[in-house]
Amino acid sequence: MSATILAPSRADEGRRPARTTDVILTGDRPTGSLHLGHYAGSLRSRLVLQGQCAQTLLIADLQALTDSSGRAADIARHVTEVALDYLAVGIDPAQTTIAVQSRLSALAELTVLYLNLVTVARLERNPTVKAEVGLRGFERDIPAGFLCYPVSQAADISGFRATLVPVGDDQLPMIEQTNEIVRRVNRLAGAPVLTECRALLSSTPRLPGVDGRKASKSLGNAIPLSATADEIRRLVRAMYTDPGHVRASDPGQVEGNVVFAYLDAFDPDPATVNELKERYQGGGLGDVALKRRLEGVLDALIAPIRARRGELARDNGYVMDVLRAGNERASAITTAVLRDVRRAFALDR
Ligand code: TRP
Repeated sequence: MSATILAPSRADEGRRPARTTDVILTGDRPTGSLHLGHYAGSLRSRLVLQGQCAQTLLIADLQALTDSSGRAADIARHVTEVALDYLAVGIDPAQTTIAVQSRLSALAELTVLYLNLVTVARLERNPTVKAEVGLRGFERDIPAGFLCYPVSQAADISGFRATLVPVGDDQLPMIEQTNEIVRRVNRLAGAPVLTECRALLSSTPRLPGVDGRKASKSLGNAIPLSATADEIRRLVRAMYTDPGHVRASDPGQVEGNVVFAYLDAFDPDPATVNELKERYQGGGLGDVALKRRLEGVLDALIAPIRARRGELARDNGYVMDVLRAGNERASAITTAVLRDVRRAFALDR
């Protein structure tokens, strides 16, 4: 028996709904604390899926190292921060497994085996890797681990026999590469030992940073889930609106206006947001009033998350216990998968 949980908002492949029989795996690189973009884009749907499907959240510290080996201590510290963020927004470790990639040695071994099924040319063609290589300015000096991280991600996904991977559209090439590897392993094994997966794309558009650029920790333009009331106020005041909208009486642009992007994502009253858009476009609504509304909306959203995070952070042992239990559960699953894959490579005969 399986039932539909998240109704698709568009009819394309990435929005085929989740079923109760789906096994969900998704991950985050622990390069910083999570922010509102993560909340709108993925944490919210993980909360909906929690308890409906088997779900694992993988804190991908090994993947983070592939482009940041110089920041190893930082990454290690952020493993706990990301776990705290998960728990603070309402991820319940009794229903969702939280595990740390580097603690699952079966994933590393799967990666080594899968590397034999992938060519360097194929990795160089991966559009996400290509874009990231450009962004990071690696040029000819690409760390080999970085070039190969799609293979390690294929190990993450297939290591849990995941069928559904909730991700942003930038991750679609990873899903495609994972399924190529899965098919090759199954051909080697002569049996369907691994499962192909599909992506579940978020129906909310990517949330911009407060300056209208891509939200990123390093640009300081994202609103952290742990933001204080003062930080929220400062970041909302700094939000990019419409440079042509000087006086409240001037007609303003909604398109590309960051305040409206955030209201669309988080205001619990979309009918009022639509009225505000009309008033803004017609002239007669000032940025200050609009930003005050958003500040209230974000305060209401973040205050309980921040409070819960504070409580959890005081109980250091609790987060460690959650991760230990999650790693143990995840290790049992991934070790069983590794056993099948080793056999496909004629090891352990
Ligand atoms: N590549 C993902 C990101 O950059 C993180 C990630 C690692 C992941 N392993 C995964 C996502 C497995 C989905 C499934 O955010």
